[in-house]
Amino acid sequence: MSIQATTLNRHLWQQHKLFNQPIGLSILMTQMGFAAKILSREISLAALAGKLGLAGENNTTGDAQKKLDVFSNDVVIDAFSDTGLVAAIASEELDQVQLIACGGDAQYILCIDPLDGSSNTDTGSPVGTIFGFYRRHTTSYCSDEEDALRQGADLIAAGYVLYGASTVLVYSGGGTVDGFTLDPSVGEFLLSHPNIQCPRDGKIYSANLSYYQEWSPQIQTLVDYLGDQHATDHDPYSMRYSGALVADVHRILLEGGLYFYPPTRKRPNGKLRLLYENAPLAFVVEQAGGRASTGTQRILDIKANSIHQRSPLAIGSASEVTLYEHFVREGTPMQRKIA
Ligand code: AHG
Ligand code: MN
Ligand code: MN
Repeated sequence: MSIQATTLNRHLWQQHKLFNQPIGLSILMTQMGFAAKILSREISLAALAGKLGLAGENNTTGDAQKKLDVFSNDVVIDAFSDTGLVAAIASEELDQVQLIACGGDAQYILCIDPLDGSSNTDTGSPVGTIFGFYRRHTTSYCSDEEDALRQGADLIAAGYVLYGASTVLVYSGGGTVDGFTLDPSVGEFLLSHPNIQCPRDGKIYSANLSYYQEWSPQIQTLVDYLGDQHATDHDPYSMRYSGALVADVHRILLEGGLYFYPPTRKRPNGKLRLLYENAPLAFVVEQAGGRASTGTQRILDIKANSIHQRSPLAIGSASEVTLYEHFVREGTPMQRKIA
């Protein structure tokens, strides 16, 4: 490896110099990188450190909290508490928006899923962190919940960290989407995936098919279409599902295809959270040339009305998200030519 490798910090400095990325945002991304290094270490050693299993309580939205959920939340709150730049944090693991700092420097709002895919922790399977930064828009001395109730189109930066075979941090500040792989031997995130482009189409689909009977007839027809190995109007698709949104969307971002988590009878808005799962991932995927939709509406156009709000999600290659929307609308395939 060249010693000229681009560290996350060097990249952030370049983004500041070349594109005027606010220095505050660069500092926050440095802190996100630091939190990700701590989490990467703790997740990989959790089985040896007694950090697997349940914490013994449900979080505010009724999910059973894992010890690593609690730990991850503490790590991210700590990482941003002393910067003076973050006014408030909305986290999956916190009942309400947590106020962090007041005054002129505290201009940023963080929405975060500290540990995504926590059902995977006890088997050493991939997990992630999802984050998005907004600028404050209320003008009082201290922030309040209103600052976090935003539409994804207002995001100024967003990204995720995947703790998998390697630890990869992907983020966009509104320009390119860039990925950094953690080299634990030097303790640095190094640029490994510059200028990620989501392929226009792809042959992977990713969804939890055990809900098939709970989905609408339109989505069932879509799944039949995608899985049809003898179709004459399209090449076959292949299915991949890890149970961690970050891992599944990362694959789709790099290789193309479609991830979807539709409404079910019990959950008319699906399971995934708008502010700290769907919107940040939609921001990244759109910046990379892909699309993200509820099936009827662009994810980034939805204004949140509560911090733990859910929304359906179809995300990935522009062609496949358009195909998904077509099925939601029409319940039939589009007329497509075989490549
Ligand atoms: P979290 O661990 O942050 O609660 O998120 C879990 C999410 C997401 O990561 C994953 O894709 C999805 O839940 C899996 O849900 P199903 O088990 O219903 O497929
Ligand atoms: Mn999650
Ligand atoms: Mn989570």
